[in-house]
Amino acid sequence: MTITNFSFPTPIRFGAGARKLVAAHLLEMGCKRPLIVTDKALGALPVLAEFKTHLAGLDVAVFSGVFGNPTCSQVMDGAAAFKVHRADCVIGFGGGAALDVAKVVGVAATHEGDILGYVWDHPKVRPIENPLPYFVALPTTSGTGSEVGRSSVVSENDTHLKRVVFSAKILARMVFADPELTFGLPAAVTAATGMDALTHNIESYLSPAYHPLCDGIALEGTRIAAGALHAAVSEPHNLQARSDMMMASMMGAVAFQKDLGAVHACAHALGTVCDLHHGLANALMIDTVMAWNHEAVPHKFDELAHVCKVAGGGKAFPAWLKTLKTSIGITGTLASHGVQPAYLPRLIEVAVADICHQTNPRPCTSVDFEALFKGAM
Ligand SMILES: NC(=O)c1ccc[n+]([C@@H]2O[C@H](COP(=O)([O-])OP(=O)(O)OC[C@H]3O[C@@H](n4cnc5c(N)ncnc54)[C@H](O)[C@@H]3O)[C@@H](O)[C@H]2O)c1
Ligand SMILES: [Zn+2]
Repeated sequence: MTITNFSFPTPIRFGAGARKLVAAHLLEMGCKRPLIVTDKALGALPVLAEFKTHLAGLDVAVFSGVFGNPTCSQVMDGAAAFKVHRADCVIGFGGGAALDVAKVVGVAATHEGDILGYVWDHPKVRPIENPLPYFVALPTTSGTGSEVGRSSVVSENDTHLKRVVFSAKILARMVFADPELTFGLPAAVTAATGMDALTHNIESYLSPAYHPLCDGIALEGTRIAAGALHAAVSEPHNLQARSDMMMASMMGAVAFQKDLGAVHACAHALGTVCDLHHGLANALMIDTVMAWNHEAVPHKFDELAHVCKVAGGGKAFPAWLKTLKTSIGITGTLASHGVQPAYLPRLIEVAVADICHQTNPRPCTSVDFEALFKGAM
C-alpha cells in the first residue's frame, strides 16, 4: 500500500474584525518590530492606514514595493527593508502578490544569495535551514488563498517565468482572515480573484491524485464560491458574501495541495507571456478547458453540477461557468484581452512545461494546448 501524507497545519482566526487581533498576538509571541509587506496600490489606500491604527505598541515599518506579478528583485528589496528596520517579524498584507513576497522576505533576509536559489526545481536548490522570522498573513483579496499555502510564486526578473519556492517552512504561523478587508476591493478584481478561488476548488477536485480530505474541502469550497461570488461582486459590503468568498479562497488553496490542472497551466503561461492577471487568465480559460475535460470524468462533473445547483448535470457545467463569469462582468475572449495569435507558440511552450497539467483529468499535449488556447481566443 502507498503511504500518503496529509497536512492541514495553518491556525486561522477567521471573521469580521480579525485584523484587530494581530497586535496582541505578535506581542504575545515576543515580536515588537514588524515589517508590513504589501503592494504599491494598497500602500496608499485607507485599508492599510486603518489596519495600522490597530498596531499600537509595535514599531511598524511598511514595505510597499510589490506590484504586478511579483519578481525576484521585489523580494530582495523587501529583505533589504527588513534589515534596515531591524525587523523581528513579517506581516503579509494584501492579495496573492503581496503575500507571496511576504512569505519569502524572511527567507531572503536570513539566507545567502538570491531567492531564486531556493525555488524547488533549481538544479542546486539551497536548503532553507536558518530560523525564519515570525510571519503572519492577512489576505485582502479572496482568490489565491496564498495565506494558507506553502508556495510562493515569484517571477524571474528578465524572463518573467514564474518560479515557485515550495516549503512548509514558509507557511504563515497564523492567518488573520478578516472579510472586512475586502469591502473596498473593486468589482473587477473581486470577480477575477473569485474565479481563481473557484478554479482552485474545481481543478483540485478533478485532479486524479488520491486525497479524499482535499476532495471534500474542494467540493464544499466550490459550493460556497458558487453561491457567493455574484453577491460579492454586486454588493461589495455584503459581509456574508465577502466571508464566504474568503473562506472558499482558503479552502481552494488548502485543497490544491492535492494539485491543479490544465486551466492553471494555461493561466501561468498567460501570466508569463502576456502579463495577464492570474485570476482573469483562469476565468478566460476555465469554460473551454472544462468542456474539453468533461469526457474524462463525467461522474465528477455531475458532482460539481450538483453542488452548484446546475440544471442539466455535468455536461451543462462548462456552460454554467460561462454564464457565471458573464454575470460578474468577465466578458470577452483571450483576443479581446490583448492575446494575439503570434503569442501562441510561446504560450503553448510555457503551458506544456508547467507542472500543473500533469494532474489534469485528461492528458494534455501541445496539440491540445493549441486547441484550448485557440478555443478561448
Ligand atoms: N502562492 C500561491 O499558492 C498562489 C496561487 C495562485 C496565485 N498566486 C499569485 O498571486 C498573485 C495574484 O494574487 P491576487 O489575485 O490576489 O491579486 P494581486 O495580489 O495582484 O492584487 C490585485 C490587485 O488588487 C489590489 N487590491 C488587493 N486588495 C485590495 C483591497 N482590499 N482593496 C483594494 N484593492 C486591493 C492590489 O493592489 C492589486 O492591484 C499572482 O502573483 C499569482 O502568481 C499565488
Ligand atoms: Zn490560481
